[in-house]
Amino acid sequence: MTYKHIQKLDAKTDLIILCSKGNLNTLKTFVSVEKIDFEGAFSESQLYYGSNGNRIYALGLGEPKDAVKIDDAFRKLCFNQKKYWKGTIQILADDLTIDQVKKAVVGLEMATYEIGQFKSKKEKQINLNINIFSTKAISNVLEEGRLIGETINRIKALVDAPANHKTPKFLGKWAEDSAKTNNYKCAVLHKKELEMQKFDAVIAVGQGSVNPPVVIVTEYLPKKGGKVDIGLVGKGITFDTGGLSIKSSTNLHYMKSDMGGAAVVLGVVELVAKLKLNINIVGVVASAENAVDSNSYRPGDVINSYSGKTIEIIDTDAEGRLVLADGLSYMIKKFKPAQVIDLATLTGSVVQTLGYSAAGMFTNNKKMAQKMSDIGFDVNERVWQLPLFADFEDDLHSDIADLRNFSGKPIGGAITAAKFLEAFTESHKNWMHLDIAGVSFGDSAYSKMKGASGYGVQLIANYIKSLI
Ligand code: BES
Ligand code: ZN
Ligand code: ZN
Repeated sequence: MTYKHIQKLDAKTDLIILCSKGNLNTLKTFVSVEKIDFEGAFSESQLYYGSNGNRIYALGLGEPKDAVKIDDAFRKLCFNQKKYWKGTIQILADDLTIDQVKKAVVGLEMATYEIGQFKSKKEKQINLNINIFSTKAISNVLEEGRLIGETINRIKALVDAPANHKTPKFLGKWAEDSAKTNNYKCAVLHKKELEMQKFDAVIAVGQGSVNPPVVIVTEYLPKKGGKVDIGLVGKGITFDTGGLSIKSSTNLHYMKSDMGGAAVVLGVVELVAKLKLNINIVGVVASAENAVDSNSYRPGDVINSYSGKTIEIIDTDAEGRLVLADGLSYMIKKFKPAQVIDLATLTGSVVQTLGYSAAGMFTNNKKMAQKMSDIGFDVNERVWQLPLFADFEDDLHSDIADLRNFSGKPIGGAITAAKFLEAFTESHKNWMHLDIAGVSFGDSAYSKMKGASGYGVQLIANYIKSLI
């Protein structure tokens, strides 16, 4: 899609008019219908025809509180109408703030996402000229919104891809290709290097799969000689069977999405490079397939880790915290980032706690928590803080190793998982863990089955922008 800033509307071209709830004044200047059956409720739309036969859509923006999800309104309208749209669409956007215009573009771009990547007959990709009327200086945000939307679509395609296509090696290749295209550095550590560098926890999780594990290291460092401002670490389990502590088969196919955290890390580094932000960022993805095999790691095993700490495996389904432990240790030891954030579809427990409404946020840093929370509300990708109380430390006690990977108790699962990760952060003062199991993948209005949400890209990208 191509987005252009215009200062004059064309009377013959299709047009979208925005109406807040109860305010139909602008609409009435374009549509000569006596009684308009339209209230401007959020995401409600109505089609009229202009005197030149052009389509005129009224699009409801609802109340001021709905502004945080304005992208959804544009996405829905475009998704539902795109089969009728050809050539050029105009949007009368003078009532939108510059930031809202950006969000509108993100939504329009997201409407082009095609989930049927593996169908033999693919849907035709739409390519429209979107002309946006505004008297404000919106040109820059049009390109920014397009890049954000494009990146979200790319990471959704990754999360929706099936595990037989999306192996750890495939994720590594994705990152290498992205790095080449967008001018940043990427190194993929394969099995031999992982063994040499002692990524023992990543290796243990991946040893039951024919698809060997990798650790992906991406670096975008435009500030020469500067330190790393932010390090992102992602859980990249390309399929989670649970391992020998096997999961039940209900909804097991959705465990292809257990690399949602990795996808956010890969997407954000790509986006920061595309936007050429002046910040030094490193992304580390620890990727493995948690498979069932005679070679799989077992409950009761004691494994080593990159940090040197030994871990007693109680449950092989608590694999995410193991690969992240190595990812975090490596990030903190090698890059010494000023801030470090990990993202992971880590626990079913966080879904029981917060449902599909927010990610679980864990940090000892009040400033980071406040900022992330505020940005989460702003971009409608919410986070909700959960505690890291020392009370939970006992749950990680092992008699025979330095710690165990699961308490064995059916309580506080998201918290004990976060406490486990904390043990691998060397008490970093600016560490945050986001458990995105409930928000990364789920039901949507745009597909019949569950699919990737794209959650996290706008949240982390805006958080990073706030550091500049
Ligand atoms: N990948 C799962 C967590 C998950 C659950 C993600 C639902 C997305 C949706 C994770 O590896 C897992 O299996 N966690 C277990 C840990 C338990 C065995 C300690 C869980 O939360 O049940
Ligand atoms: Zn698991
Ligand atoms: Zn998992």
